[in-house]
Amino acid sequence: MPEIKYHYEGKIPLEMHKVRIVQKLNLVPIERRMEAINEAGNNTFLLKNRDVFLDMLTDSGVNAMSDKQMAAMMEADDSYAGSETFTKLEDKIREIFGKEYFLPAHQGRACENIISQAYVKPGTIVPMNYHFTTSKAHVVLNGGSIEEIVIDEGLNVESSFPFKGNMDIQKLETLINTHGAEKIAYVRVEAGTNLIGGQPISLQNMKDVYQVCKNHNIMVVLDASLLADNLYFIKIREEACKNMSIREITRAISDVSDVIYFSARKLGCARGGGICTNNKEIYLKIRELITLYEGFLTYGGMSVREMEAIAVGLEETMDENMINQGPQFIEYMVGALQEKGVPVVTPAGGLGCHVNAMKFVSHIPQNEYPAGALAAAVYLVSGVRGMERGTISEQRDENGNETFANMELLRLALPRRVFTLSQVNYAIDRIGWLYENRNLIGGLKFVEEPKLLRFFFGRLEAVSDWQEKLVAKFRSDFGDSL
Ligand code: F0G
Repeated sequence: MPEIKYHYEGKIPLEMHKVRIVQKLNLVPIERRMEAINEAGNNTFLLKNRDVFLDMLTDSGVNAMSDKQMAAMMEADDSYAGSETFTKLEDKIREIFGKEYFLPAHQGRACENIISQAYVKPGTIVPMNYHFTTSKAHVVLNGGSIEEIVIDEGLNVESSFPFKGNMDIQKLETLINTHGAEKIAYVRVEAGTNLIGGQPISLQNMKDVYQVCKNHNIMVVLDASLLADNLYFIKIREEACKNMSIREITRAISDVSDVIYFSARKLGCARGGGICTNNKEIYLKIRELITLYEGFLTYGGMSVREMEAIAVGLEETMDENMINQGPQFIEYMVGALQEKGVPVVTPAGGLGCHVNAMKFVSHIPQNEYPAGALAAAVYLVSGVRGMERGTISEQRDENGNETFANMELLRLALPRRVFTLSQVNYAIDRIGWLYENRNLIGGLKFVEEPKLLRFFFGRLEAVSDWQEKLVAKFRSDFGDSL
């Protein structure tokens, strides 16, 4: 695809779509934001949308849908069994991934529940490039454990390595040799590695992982939730794939995966999920669990309207002008923040812009949750809602001690095709201001701490009156501005 050139010097992303339906936004004054974040226990998950200006919490289920997706939804064939809509989606999966069997599920973690129940036995191990919160939780719930074997460069926050999500093949071999292949439930490969900043994995690395696994007769499971961004990065960053179409890259990835599952809240820009495979034995084993937990095989907990939207969304994922939007906006945001000196994860990945809280607020110790504190501070000064991806997102160990995260990140997700460039510029401006005033930000402490997935419901409070001071500085710098 030819690059579109500007007269203009700087590199700015270009929207390859136009807006046809809008939703009005509110920007409440900073004094209200101060109340709101405290009502929410300083946890951005607990904010109400009415108090949020730009919702950058996640891209899950909130990507903009296309006119073609909306139109397809009107054609949905509603029936418990044998829906025409299901056949359409199954055909699309066959066409794109070349996988014969498709099992629907209501979202990504439902697929993880089912795959883990089917294959994780007590004492088994699931090696993966990096964990995702729900994927780890399901393995552990079934008595297994996970081993993270991302390449060392993957945890290097500031890097220029193009595929930081790659697996370390040597570590994989060692793990198999140490424990024996029979102890490995399966190897999980995560496309667009979420928790290290939406970092991609190369096609070559996926092929290498598959080869090792085949040598030991181990099943490879691909989490394709963030595949769209990863496809784009393979196309532009992997020399050997430069002349391949997105469709060809997708098929090549599928060919080195025994099972693919995905959250269609991300892949396909709708709401749902599914599992596909060419292996009849796997299909039959998983099938019973789908009907037990999700629903009959022709809907799996999804509405038929969403299934129609997913089928179109998957087709649109094969369009480079569609999947380049997220990565290009993210690259712009990362670049602009870097120019202001703000520490961010590099290279820019998919999903969103990831701010390095460990450095942004280096004066906040990890037991006072730097990424959580930064998330609260960014909301206060901008109305932008991000998500903590650091120690709060981890769990305490058996003895109640904190497990400090490898990275303390504030994720500012860019749901695809949702925000305009001026909105992104507003976020950049406010975060730049906050960086200049970073010494005013203080830590947080838990006042309510659930045992499991505490980042969803936990409530925290500021360790001092730093939030009042930050609000006062905002008022003196911005006058009566919101
Ligand atoms: N795998 C990955 C890589 C994900 O990013 C997610 C969800 C899931 C599985 C689970 O899918 O939400 O449909 O159950 N990630 C969302 C996020 C929640 O905000 O990053 P789900």
